[in-house]
Amino acid sequence: MTMTSLSSNQTLLKHFDDFKHIHMRNLFKEDGNRFADYSLQAPHIFLDYSKNRINKTTLELLFKLAEEAKLTEQVQNLFSGTQFNNEAINNTENRLALHTVLRQPHTDTEQDLIIDNNNLSEVVRLCHQKMYDFLSKVHSNKYFGAKGKAINTLVSIGIGGSFLGPKMVTDALATYTIEGFNCHYVANIDSTDLYDTLSKIDPESTLFLIQSKTFTTLETLENANAVKAHLKSIGFSDSDITQHLAAVTSKEQVALDLGISPDRIFPMWDWVGGRYSLWSAIGLPIAFLIGMDNFKALLAGAHEMDQHFLNAPLDQNAPVILGMIGVWYQNYFQTTSHAILAYEQYLRTFPDHLQQLDMESNGKHVSKSGEALTYNTGPVIWGGIGCNGQHAYHQLLHQGTHLLPSDFITCLSTHHPIVNHHRHLFSNCLSQSKALMSGKTKKEAYDELLKGGMSKTAAEKLAPHKENKGNQPSNTLVLQKLTPETLGALTALYEHKTFVQSTIWGINPFDQWGVELGKTLGKEVFQAMENDKIALNLDASTKGLLSLYKD
Ligand code: F6P
Repeated sequence: MTMTSLSSNQTLLKHFDDFKHIHMRNLFKEDGNRFADYSLQAPHIFLDYSKNRINKTTLELLFKLAEEAKLTEQVQNLFSGTQFNNEAINNTENRLALHTVLRQPHTDTEQDLIIDNNNLSEVVRLCHQKMYDFLSKVHSNKYFGAKGKAINTLVSIGIGGSFLGPKMVTDALATYTIEGFNCHYVANIDSTDLYDTLSKIDPESTLFLIQSKTFTTLETLENANAVKAHLKSIGFSDSDITQHLAAVTSKEQVALDLGISPDRIFPMWDWVGGRYSLWSAIGLPIAFLIGMDNFKALLAGAHEMDQHFLNAPLDQNAPVILGMIGVWYQNYFQTTSHAILAYEQYLRTFPDHLQQLDMESNGKHVSKSGEALTYNTGPVIWGGIGCNGQHAYHQLLHQGTHLLPSDFITCLSTHHPIVNHHRHLFSNCLSQSKALMSGKTKKEAYDELLKGGMSKTAAEKLAPHKENKGNQPSNTLVLQKLTPETLGALTALYEHKTFVQSTIWGINPFDQWGVELGKTLGKEVFQAMENDKIALNLDASTKGLLSLYKD
């Protein structure tokens, strides 16, 4: 199925033609109930989607499109692991995508998911129990390094999904850190990353956790080996080193071969995608830093959002609404990006996580069955934290030439109240989305300048520069406070939004074949650095740049 084969697509194209020039300013003027009618309370998140270039008809048509794409059935298949059109949901890798099982409450064994006689819910419970047992020892200062110091520092070595999710959560929930414990990440093959981290830690009280689903990732393996070499160089014996290593992987044997003790190898499974894996043992850095109870609260918040996604009707379903509004912009207004503007300091790495989640999932150019797609798929995800962005890239949002949909994310209260800071933060968030929506006409700018005492000639000259066209769409997502539960719900919301869009576009969001070419070429170029014969086969640019390095 491709989106263009759906009949609602034609109706939407026609509706778009009638609607594209309508200004949101007028939509608000005409409808006093717009806020009430275009907002909803989802688990832990209030969603205001009224500042979008939509009306009731737009939404009706978008939901029809979703029905035609069999969204509800596909969501059920996602959760139950049932095949769709005789194929696994991740058809190109013949895998399931059951990250939602990771969030099921452990008490609810009646809902256990059993696939091919394998009780996946039980497998998850055992994994979480293994994490709990290990961390109980650590947190009670009873897990000692080889030199007798209690372990209080974790260095996670992993990249992509084995890094960004845990990093985002430990940043976001830093205020829940167990006193005396800390956590660092080494992801990059740029040696500065490892150098910086090693210079901050005491190896004698550090556990190095190698996080790799496949245990084949170059950056992770090189960093793991470099850490082992470093420990050796400072006097650790082989058995000392073992005491300081742990791993999360689906390839247990490879981890054993690397000298990791089986009681510190935590499982991963091929039915969990890397970018959806922070809820598994890949989330060990999270539980290490904030404790297993808070980790479970994160899972519980995500589970509430799962249930909402699974059960709420399309027009009351937050991930569906966000996903379909995104489709409206990507495929009818022809936008190509989506900004995440988080008015919460602790969410500073949230856009990075969403970038991988969304762009690695929906950055695809063919349908599930391999047909070339003739429409936009996943947008470029970018953003940062407010108010910082207001003094940087918001200028382009206000007066640039692109239509740039965005999400504002904010909390009603802060962990660290100082005088009026939070009130300023919240009002800035609201005023930015208001300014983007309503803008300021040239006439308004001109009148303001006259009022300020400027001459007519000068005001006429300056007014065009002060015009803000507005009509720049945004959603506002409001959390009570950033807690494990609310963060879990927020993160799951975006996972599901990504799934909604992939379903409409007819693509597989769970594979990532595109990154393979870079990996293969990376190996070839590396070999060419050593071997001139291989270098001869390279293109002129790569060859030229390589010789600069070699010279
Ligand atoms: O290269 C992309 C990728 O495969 C991601 O999808 C994944 O999260 C990351 O690399 C790390 O993979 P692994 O956990 O197997 O080391």
